Amino acid sequence: MSSRDLDTLYRQVIMDHYKNPRNRGELDGDTRTVNLNNPTCGDRIQVQMKVENGKVADAVFTGEGCSISLASASMMTQAIKGLPEEEALALSELFSNMMQGKEYDENKFDLGDIEALSGVTKFPARIKCATLAWKAMEKGINETRS
Ligand code: FES
Repeated sequence: MSSRDLDTLYRQVIMDHYKNPRNRGELDGDTRTVNLNNPTCGDRIQVQMKVENGKVADAVFTGEGCSISLASASMMTQAIKGLPEEEALALSELFSNMMQGKEYDENKFDLGDIEALSGVTKFPARIKCATLAWKAMEKGINETRS
């Protein structure tokens, strides 16, 4: 596949998550809830997780933001469901490396749609958009770990 075709495919995957977000909503009961905003634009995202026996049993998000931030939140919630907390953090670290254009082991996790965000590295101003929901997830996990 040419890099132009790949760009088109990635754009389509991002728009699909933006228009048909997975796990958009709120959870009741005992949840870890984090609200974060992107200081550069003021957009905000809320991430909620239910953690049971050290695993992310459920993850959802709501908020206002651009297509990149909301698509990334959709992908993130999809990716972390079922993962042990440590692995959710490891995936977040890998994603952060991907966003900074650093090396990352693409075989460590099944990245699926997340790979579509790799093109964001070409637009440094959008990296904060892509990482917003991930930072919220990290905060939610780290704050309550002992
Ligand atoms: Fe605000 Fe992307 S422009 S989160």
